[in-house]
Amino acid sequence: MQKIETKHLQTVIADHTQDMSGRVVAITGTTSGTGYVCARELAKLGATVLLLNRDSDRSVSARQRLESEVPDGTFVAITCDLQNFASVRAAAQEIGRRYDRLDALCNNAGVMALPDQATADGYDVQMQTNSIAPFLLTKELFGLLRRSDDGRVVNQSSLARRGAGHDPMYFGRNGGDLGGDGSPEDNAALRGPRWQRYHQSKLANCTFTYGLQQRLDERGITTVKALLAHPGFAATSLQTNSASTGGMDVDSGLMSQAQSAEDGALGIIRACADPGARPGDFFGPEGYTGFPGRLPPEDLLTDPENIRICWEGCEAAVGAFELGVSRCPTAAVIPPIGPDSLRAPVATVTVRRSNTVARRVVDVAVGPVDVERGS
Ligand SMILES: NC(=O)c1ccc[n+]([C@@H]2O[C@H](COP(=O)([O-])OP(=O)(O)OC[C@H]3O[C@@H](n4cnc5c(N)ncnc54)[C@H](OP(=O)(O)O)[C@@H]3O)[C@@H](O)[C@H]2O)c1
Repeated sequence: MQKIETKHLQTVIADHTQDMSGRVVAITGTTSGTGYVCARELAKLGATVLLLNRDSDRSVSARQRLESEVPDGTFVAITCDLQNFASVRAAAQEIGRRYDRLDALCNNAGVMALPDQATADGYDVQMQTNSIAPFLLTKELFGLLRRSDDGRVVNQSSLARRGAGHDPMYFGRNGGDLGGDGSPEDNAALRGPRWQRYHQSKLANCTFTYGLQQRLDERGITTVKALLAHPGFAATSLQTNSASTGGMDVDSGLMSQAQSAEDGALGIIRACADPGARPGDFFGPEGYTGFPGRLPPEDLLTDPENIRICWEGCEAAVGAFELGVSRCPTAAVIPPIGPDSLRAPVATVTVRRSNTVARRVVDVAVGPVDVERGS
């Protein structure tokens, strides 16, 4: 495929990120695409970047590429297979053994429009990878996030968040029995049961985020915020992996509308590193491509019933998400974790440059949204 020009990376790094020295950031799915770019850019900003991937040659070679692209960067590989709850729990324990604080967890990894298959845990492969396992990972790491003075949970959603409300059946142990694989025509048109499951999983990224922020607010926890992002439509391995199982047609001309993986990563990069990020912020392009502005969430994303179905479904799958005692100082509710952890003080927030005028100009330059064809 022809190389796609990256348009917004430099502006976002210059105007919407801070020095991340001394900060520890965990990112899922860094073997390619938006996760790889996010890992690289946050390491350039000085963060210690934990690379949470399932074991594969891809994860080894991606780490080597990151180390060669950012020779001064600090990358730490942690095995985390989101299709296996035991692996997710083990990853969180490993992080807890090595660090006494986590400043950001970026739930980026995902799969799209896969066949109707169950994981070993019994859940739909898309729902588990994209939504239920990230919920588990976040809840297991929440104690570490509470030890940061600016803890961030960043969830990567999609234009595919838009559509019908949640149906509890997608959160149940119904893997392999959620509508089948769809016809080739449906799959080429990005509709049918595979895409319904993807939609549910990507809506769940949003309802998880807003449900979490609501609970943080209720408990008066201001040192952790929940943030949302979406990449628009970016050329990554997501589409080729989907096409390899019949989930979509990558030769249809659709890919000519995609932006680069770099530009697709900017929503999560802003959410992880923008010093001006506020609780519940949602960063991404208005349509397929463009500058990752601050977006208003659609009503569907903050609907109490949708939030209830997502939270009850995830908690039934992986256990209750305990946020701690209301309005207590962090030190009083979180036990010490261990002596061998990262002891660097949290870095002073430094805004490198501020150019809100430039941002606004780019914000209005994005095109209209084509909901039907969003990934
Ligand atoms: N690209 C787009 O246009 C687009 C649009 C909307 C939303 N998104 C979202 O963006 C996120 C990143 O996707 P991408 O476009 O960058 O695709 P990508 O290049 O395919 O990256 C996906 C990452 O997720 C990882 N992953 C998949 N299954 C995993 C598992 N079981 N455990 C751990 N990691 C796993 C992959 O690792 P492996 O190498 O091990 O498979 C890979 O590192 C996804 O959440 C996706 O839904 C992308």
